[in-house]
Amino acid sequence: RPRIILLIGSMLKADQDLQEKLATSIEMLHTASLVHDDLIDGSLLRRGIPTLNSKWSPAATVLTGDFLFASASDMASKTNSVEVMRLIARCLMTIVNGEIDQLFSSRCVANVDDYYKRIYAKTASLFETSTHCAAVLSNVNDTQLELLRNFGYELGMAFQIVDDILDYTGAESTVGKPVGGDLRQGLITLPMLYYMESNPQDPAIANLKAGNCIQGEDEIQRLVSQTANSDAITRAYGVAADFAERAEANMSQFHECPERDALIKITRFIIERKN
Ligand code: IPE
Ligand code: MG
Ligand code: MG
Repeated sequence: RPRIILLIGSMLKADQDLQEKLATSIEMLHTASLVHDDLIDGSLLRRGIPTLNSKWSPAATVLTGDFLFASASDMASKTNSVEVMRLIARCLMTIVNGEIDQLFSSRCVANVDDYYKRIYAKTASLFETSTHCAAVLSNVNDTQLELLRNFGYELGMAFQIVDDILDYTGAESTVGKPVGGDLRQGLITLPMLYYMESNPQDPAIANLKAGNCIQGEDEIQRLVSQTANSDAITRAYGVAADFAERAEANMSQFHECPERDALIKITRFIIERKN
């Protein structure tokens, strides 16, 4: 996210100091949300290293997250843009609302519409806010602002779909966090939605559709590996690639320059990444 902001700023010849403050604020906000998220999810590993909640008490973890949130707001205020502060505050409302929804919604039930809403709230909203704020701090017209906001949105959606695929196909050693975790937590993501569609005869699927969670680690492992080896993965990658292509189409409207090429490369990297 910071890299994307800085590339956009440089492409548009914006004030570099302000873009750096924005990038820092967004990264701190992201880190804060992960500190709290890992506590909520009971996750012990993030980016290959132990999480704060794996070592500290919940109180210490919550307060550290709060401190990071406050630092993110403090840094956002240094952009001197009320609009940027408003966009960042609204994005945090969207992220937290998504976490609350997830906490109170029944596990193991999902459809594609809910799924898209969920990944918008937890991931695409922050990408969208990053590129939108980078545009606000640059000298762009309304059309360019919309192109940049959309670029962030489409890129963020692609990024999260690939994240959800890697939860099925990846290895913990490369992904840096526990894999198979979504299904274990009762979260039905795009690969599983597609697997359910093509395998209604699988007894576990009938069970899932009836609103029951998958019981037992062996059964979870079986479903993860069957999904990973099914056409559900190809289909999910297809959808991610469509989002990434739309991101690229938005970016292609800008004049050719090294920064634009790098931003387009990021849209491709997001699909190919293994971690
Ligand atoms: C984390 O969501 C993103 C936030 C909203 C903070 P998840 O819990 O679904 O993602 P991972 O697997 O922990 O990264
Ligand atoms: Mg989590
Ligand atoms: Mg979570």
